[in-house]
Amino acid sequence: MKMLRLVLVSLFIAIPLVTGIAFASEKAKTVDELAQMYDVSSCKQCHPKIYEEWEKSIHSHSLIGTGSTAGALKGLVGALKSTFTKSGVKETKDVKVEHFMECFKCHLPQIKDASDEVAQQIARALEDGDKATLAKVNINCLVCHNVKAIVHKWQDGEPEKGVIYGSKDGAHADRCMQL
Ligand code: HEC
Ligand code: HEC
Ligand code: HEC
Repeated sequence: MKMLRLVLVSLFIAIPLVTGIAFASEKAKTVDELAQMYDVSSCKQCHPKIYEEWEKSIHSHSLIGTGSTAGALKGLVGALKSTFTKSGVKETKDVKVEHFMECFKCHLPQIKDASDEVAQQIARALEDGDKATLAKVNINCLVCHNVKAIVHKWQDGEPEKGVIYGSKDGAHADRCMQL
């Protein structure tokens, strides 16, 4: 896959489009709140084809995968309780964001904006096989075009909230071209 090139697109125009990105520094307390922070439903209107391709891709359900991702993550929750005796996890309610980080740094990077309650809710959904909850958060447009868009952070800094990163210079369009 091509790497995202790192050109900043205008903050001014991008902000109204990216209504979902949280501007508050508060962490999401529920899976629904985290999903809302990273809501990409607005992208569909102008990028219908890309949106559809994404919806059909495994990126749109990165905690489930073909099923084996959800299975492996459920196994991790089990191992935290039984095998990893120094993890501090005796029950599902003891699960914290840090326990998932080894996997979520790729499978759900936006977890950095979530509290431990969200990690517990995800752990419970994994144990219950609650796919509807697991599918609410995923690797979507904003994860690639914002959160993970900057590779050389010591050189280029952290991604700015409300900005859509792409390969072109200048402002993100405010009109649809049905891309
Ligand atoms: C460095 C990034 C990265 C990390 C860390 C990572 N994964 Fe993945 N994982 C991927 C990618 C990319 C794929 C899809 C490509 C593939 O299947 O090889 C994937 C695929 C998978 C699959 C197979 C897909 C399916 O559902 O059929 C499973 C299972 C999985 N990951 C589980 C885990 C678990 C559990 C962890 C933590 C222990 C983890 N991964 C950590 C990037 C990562
Ligand atoms: C897994 C990461 C990833 C996801 C998810 C993702 N993109 Fe991209 N997108 C890329 C990369 C990488 C490029 C190529 C960047 C480049 O070379 O300019 C790209 C290119 C684009 C382009 C430029 C036009 C084109 O076809 O090359 C648009 C528009 C775009 N993405 C919109 C979206 C939208 C809308 C979504 C959500 C429905 C989305 N992307 C989801 C990684 C992603
Ligand atoms: C009102 C319509 C509209 C909406 C809504 C919209 N886009 Fe776009 N977007 C465009 C148009 C038009 C272009 C092409 C601009 C150009 O190439 O001049 C574009 C280009 C892009 C590019 C490519 C930029 C580049 O440098 O190649 C990305 C990435 C992108 N949009 C992502 C998104 C994401 C993510 C969302 C949702 C948060 C979104 N867009 C919502 C109209 C829209």
